[in-house]
Amino acid sequence: MSPAAQTETKRFAPSADTVARAHVNAETYDRMYAASLADPEGFWAEQGKRVDWIKPFTQVKDVNYNFGEVSINWYADGTLNVAANCIDRHLATRGDQTAIIWEPDSPTEPAKHITYEELHGSVCRMANILESLGVRKGDRVVIYLPMIPEAAYAMLACARIGAIHSIVFAGFSPDALAARVNGCDAKVVITADEAPRGGRKTPLKSNADAALLHCKDSVKCLVVKRTGGQTTWIADRDYDYNEMALEASDYCAPAEMGAEDPLFILYTSGSTGQPKGVVHTTGGYLVYAAMTHEITFDYHDGDIYWCTADVGWVTGHSYIVYGPLANGATTLMFEGVPTYPDAGRFWEVCAKHKVNQFYTAPTAIRALMGQGTGFVEKHDLSDLRLLGTVGEPINPEAWNWYNEVVGKGKCPIVDTWWQTETGGHLMTPLPGAHATKPGSAMKPFFGIQPVVLDPQSGVEINGNGVEGVLCIKDSWPGQMRTVWGDHERFQKTYFADYKGYYFTGDGCRRDADGDYWITGRVDDVINVSGHRMGTAEVESALVAHAAVAEAAVVGYPHEIKGQGIYCYVTLMNDREPSDELMKELRTWVRTEIGPIASPDVIQWAPGLPKTRSGKIMRRILRKIAENDFGSLGDTSTLADPSVVDDLIANRASK
Ligand code: WT7
Repeated sequence: MSPAAQTETKRFAPSADTVARAHVNAETYDRMYAASLADPEGFWAEQGKRVDWIKPFTQVKDVNYNFGEVSINWYADGTLNVAANCIDRHLATRGDQTAIIWEPDSPTEPAKHITYEELHGSVCRMANILESLGVRKGDRVVIYLPMIPEAAYAMLACARIGAIHSIVFAGFSPDALAARVNGCDAKVVITADEAPRGGRKTPLKSNADAALLHCKDSVKCLVVKRTGGQTTWIADRDYDYNEMALEASDYCAPAEMGAEDPLFILYTSGSTGQPKGVVHTTGGYLVYAAMTHEITFDYHDGDIYWCTADVGWVTGHSYIVYGPLANGATTLMFEGVPTYPDAGRFWEVCAKHKVNQFYTAPTAIRALMGQGTGFVEKHDLSDLRLLGTVGEPINPEAWNWYNEVVGKGKCPIVDTWWQTETGGHLMTPLPGAHATKPGSAMKPFFGIQPVVLDPQSGVEINGNGVEGVLCIKDSWPGQMRTVWGDHERFQKTYFADYKGYYFTGDGCRRDADGDYWITGRVDDVINVSGHRMGTAEVESALVAHAAVAEAAVVGYPHEIKGQGIYCYVTLMNDREPSDELMKELRTWVRTEIGPIASPDVIQWAPGLPKTRSGKIMRRILRKIAENDFGSLGDTSTLADPSVVDDLIANRASK
């Protein structure tokens, strides 16, 4: 059942303690929210002071949402350096404070506590190494690393010298890596020998080797030794980070960057086959990441904060590295998985490091919930003060379990709705301000004006108790600025369908109280374990196989993953369906895209439901995948209605 359809109206009010401690309570929320809309320039000028500027800005906001002329600028004439904001400015007051707690995959390997002083040295060394490899301001560097401290060093080293990083999640295949290296014309790829995860090792360097066969010869590869596992080595292309770090100077002057210089590119799936390179810039992004980190998680000096995401996703960018470090926080970085060595690992780590704020995805909660309460109860979670979720709608069962079993009913839950494109949270309850409802993202963050539009007419639907597509009126500093190398596509994707608004791609409901519930994507993007997957990407991977004539991919409800990947496959005339071929296609998709795109279900489809003009009717395929045969709707416009009966009769079992 989708959260929007459920009728749960129970509210969970914050405790008096939570309200008293909070940066923002109900009264301040209302006042600040009103101020942020009444005078955006004044509001964001004030918030701009959260970061240290080399040259202070005099302009705040310069935004045009008109299709054809879209341009988004914040603090445009200011200059700053992100690494200096995340490290140097803290040295005088908290040089000895832990910046990063690193918890390795194996619980028997010791954790590391990296102080701000040490972080400064390591980032400078990495920055100097990159410069010695020829990286200059504006150049692109691809980071393909496990969750190790060097991933944070690499990001901050790029920021320090003004290079633009593009992180590729270590679960992506060599092909996907090559496409991203070429997509942004990167000079250097930073990788590791191997990535330990859940007791297994992914051979990252050999993946990078395979990828680099499809890239320019000039691309260099900087290799971090994580396990010491064997790798092949190409002289004058591969460089040993650990060796170079011994020699590199531990000082590197931070580059003076314009507020609108790109900070990073992050590829994300859309409704077409090609992932797009989301571009975030320097000033506005940092202000927004820092502000949301402090306020949404009610972060206070001395707190230990843990976000379980991977730096390969935007959550890791904004809420493991940039937001927390800009705030001088202690941020925990975890290399492993929630279920290794057992389903108690998250809670063991929380207890071990006395975590105060814990931020994870609903899919992890659902998986752990299935393992019983014993794994939680074994560990002392008394330091936890706040819980967060992100990535997909959370079902009330998972919410209640999180609240009762993990939070012991005393930790407010922030259900943060946002996107790679938004840079930071756009809607979330604030812990000291709002009584939460399980499954609702509740309220807009400061400066955010959500609107519900009629999907057909594009007209704003006012009032409460309404549902439609979710758009955002006006800009905020953390918003993406363009698609790398394709501003046209940026405008077409986000500003064409509903003129004058930013279109989120999500549906939403505003309930009778005016609180927001995200109902899921309204485009051909599915959400698998909180990861965004374009159905078109999986389809193009499938049809690239010699046996496949045609493929159509849809999402279906999956108990743990939220949505699973359901593939209808039509084979070439001369090929017969078989279990072996099914296995082969699964492996094929994993190699083309990566394990995260692994099909959950493959159904052989002698024909696909198409209109007479040849358009595949996905609505019907979705219904069949959902086992919902009663409401297939009008099938009379199909070129051959009998294919539907065949698909129903042979529906794959899940
Ligand atoms: C899509 C964005 C933002 C970081 C992780 C995902 C869905 C995200 C929620 C939430 C309901 C959510 C939306 C959104 N989503 N958070 N709290 N409740 N849905 O980033 O890969 O860019 O995906 O994830 O559908 O559009 P992403």
